[in-house]
Amino acid sequence: MLNERLQEALNEQLNAELYSAYLYLSMSAYFESISLKGCANWMRCQAQEELFHAMKFHDHINERGGRALMRPIEGPPTEWDSPLAAFEHTYEHEQKVSALINALVDLALAESDHAANAFLQWFVTEQVEEEASADEVVQKLKLVGDTNGLLMLDREMAQRVLVMPAAADGGEAE
Ligand code: FEO
Repeated sequence: MLNERLQEALNEQLNAELYSAYLYLSMSAYFESISLKGCANWMRCQAQEELFHAMKFHDHINERGGRALMRPIEGPPTEWDSPLAAFEHTYEHEQKVSALINALVDLALAESDHAANAFLQWFVTEQVEEEASADEVVQKLKLVGDTNGLLMLDREMAQRVLVMPAAADGGEAE
């Protein structure tokens, strides 16, 4: 059974994951608006991945005898100065999420909640990938010098597909 403090913290993270989905959907719409459909696809996959993360928190809270609470989701930005600015924002956002996950692990350990700690370890690993994949795009965008390079990168971004994990607690979303 979850204690109240942990239940509240996990519900905050559920909301943060839903915000992440909202943020990346907003970025996807931004990329659509400037005709970079590959980048829009990448962000759409990212948003779907965040919904998967949110559902993991939702399910863990409920399975542990707690109550998942749907609270208001903050409105994300809708415009960015450039594709690079949007992906730098993504990288910074993922670093913030990693800090939130680390704080949750600290709380689970302080409360001796080993089930929550085990659950959260999936996210510790996932955040390494989340930061790396965003940073990879930032670095590529910095290398791209002209419109042709950007369009080539956009074609590469169009290849991303969401691979849903086989089991809710086991696999990895790409
Ligand atoms: Fe749910 Fe991108 O971390």
